[in-house]
Amino acid sequence: MNVPRIAVAGRKGGVGKTTISCGIASVLASQNKRVLVIDLDPQSNAAFALGGDPTKPGTAELLMGKKPHPLRINEYLDVLPGGAELGNHHVQTAHSEDLADALCDFEYDAMIFDCPPGNEHLERLALFAASSTLIVANAHPMAIMGAGRVHNELASSKEKGRKIAGRWAIVQSLIDKRRKLDKNLEMVLADLYPEVEHLVVHQDTEMANATANQTPIMEYAPNCRGAKDLLEIANWGCHGEKK
Ligand SMILES: Nc1ncnc2c1ncn2[C@@H]1O[C@H](COP(=O)(O)OP(=O)(O)OP(=O)(O)O)[C@@H](O)[C@H]1O
Ligand SMILES: [Mg+2]
Repeated sequence: MNVPRIAVAGRKGGVGKTTISCGIASVLASQNKRVLVIDLDPQSNAAFALGGDPTKPGTAELLMGKKPHPLRINEYLDVLPGGAELGNHHVQTAHSEDLADALCDFEYDAMIFDCPPGNEHLERLALFAASSTLIVANAHPMAIMGAGRVHNELASSKEKGRKIAGRWAIVQSLIDKRRKLDKNLEMVLADLYPEVEHLVVHQDTEMANATANQTPIMEYAPNCRGAKDLLEIANWGCHGEKK
């Protein structure tokens, strides 16, 4: 499984994790890379946002040893839906490396894990299956705290030599520099995590509209500001650099 596997996590709800997951998947698919989005959220928002049926079998069934078929979104983009079954006892007691193992036979050029808010266990399955992690926070203090928790989990697991995502960056999400909190966020995060790369996704109505229209961003508004931000983030997730 030597392909880019990017976990999108943040712990806090509503900070833009799903928008970024689906967005970078759409960017990579537009480069003719075969991409699989793995939705780890009982809300199954990623499948919905991309135009797939969020009620179909997906990640939970995979973790229960079944063979769900990823839903085809377009020629290059597939999604494994999340769903309520992720609350199933078998899934909730899965070993940290079970998701990585279950994905071994999947042949894609990139995989993106959309993590749920709040659920450390499901998030951990993604962190252990990923090669890199995007920690998403908006400017709200609670989101910064949530990002800190993911950062600490990654740092302490790495220190212990565990097979967790080896590199991570913080994504400042929903940024509008006319707001004071947003303007200060970069400084706050640089103070807290000076050694970590920082990426930005601006607030962009086209991104919210693409989700509402259940259409991948590169089909909906490929030239919008958010799409340009997502290109840098996808590049970092795949290559460790923005270009
Ligand atoms: N960059 C952006 N510009 C404009 N709207 C955005 C942007 N990112 C996210 N949104 C909007 O913010 C809301 C929350 O986004 P999203 O669902 O991606 O967050 P989330 O972190 O995945 O939430 P949850 O924790 O519930 O899974 C949605 O309505 C989405 O359309
Ligand atoms: Mg989400």
